[in-house]
Amino acid sequence: MSSKIILVTGANRGIGFAIVQRLATAFPQNTYLLGVRKFSSGEEAISTLRAQGLTATFSPIEIDITSDTSIAFAASTVESKFGQLDILINNAAVAELIKPGVPGFRESCNRTLDANVTSFLQVTSAFLSLLHLSASPKVINISSARGSVYRQTHSELPPTASIPYSISKMAMNIAMLEMAKLEPKVLFQAASPGHCKTAFNGFRGTKDPLDGAEVVVRLVEDEEGRFSMGFWELEEGEMRSVPW
Ligand SMILES: NC(=O)c1ccc[n+]([C@@H]2O[C@H](COP(=O)([O-])OP(=O)(O)OC[C@H]3O[C@@H](n4cnc5c(N)ncnc54)[C@H](OP(=O)(O)O)[C@@H]3O)[C@@H](O)[C@H]2O)c1
Repeated sequence: MSSKIILVTGANRGIGFAIVQRLATAFPQNTYLLGVRKFSSGEEAISTLRAQGLTATFSPIEIDITSDTSIAFAASTVESKFGQLDILINNAAVAELIKPGVPGFRESCNRTLDANVTSFLQVTSAFLSLLHLSASPKVINISSARGSVYRQTHSELPPTASIPYSISKMAMNIAMLEMAKLEPKVLFQAASPGHCKTAFNGFRGTKDPLDGAEVVVRLVEDEEGRFSMGFWELEEGEMRSVPW
């Protein structure tokens, strides 16, 4: 793989951190920009990666995906320090377990849709001019099987209702398909990492985040165009299309 500049949002912990760790292990020639809300958490994450013996170039980039000011500042920092972007991995997201009718539901829904849908559109838009400078620009969205209507209607998911989050992941998938119409030169892909042990679910997931990150490694390494625009997961070592 040729050397690439890759930005991962929410890279200080959980699946975002695992994505950087797995990618940097497989492709040390790349530059990894760790999108983080606090610069210090990016520095800590990079120290951990270095302690693991990883030799890739890492740089923390401060970005709060719900703040347009922060997004604009992050894009200008990447422009001045790195000149372009090859792959944007929209990983940062929130999940709040709350039922309709409970006080605060409207606010929770709005917060979740803002962070998981509108922010994907705002972050991606802000980085488009830098992505256009890449020979093969990609945007990879960390989605979820909960955003699949098929999976929801074929009893293929845990029975717990997670309404704002599930709506947001389905909307993110549609937002990606719409965005792709505006940006035909950018390859948009959604990835389902599976149920991983992270703070998101109180560490009750069944997969190691490093295994969840593997689908992203497959999408990043694909330079032959084997994986088109779509919704992807890795099951038993095979890349599969997730039904929408
Ligand atoms: N865990 C699972 O089983 C699972 C399954 C399917 C899909 N996913 C998806 O995987 C992705 C990562 O989830 P995770 O499980 O790794 O969650 P996590 O451990 O809770 O990590 C979430 C990350 O997002 C960041 N973040 C949250 N709000 C942000 C904001 N406004 N601006 C910038 N960064 C923000 C957090 O930063 P701070 O440290 O600053 O809070 C953190 O780095 C999400 O898109 C999630 O929907 C997870």
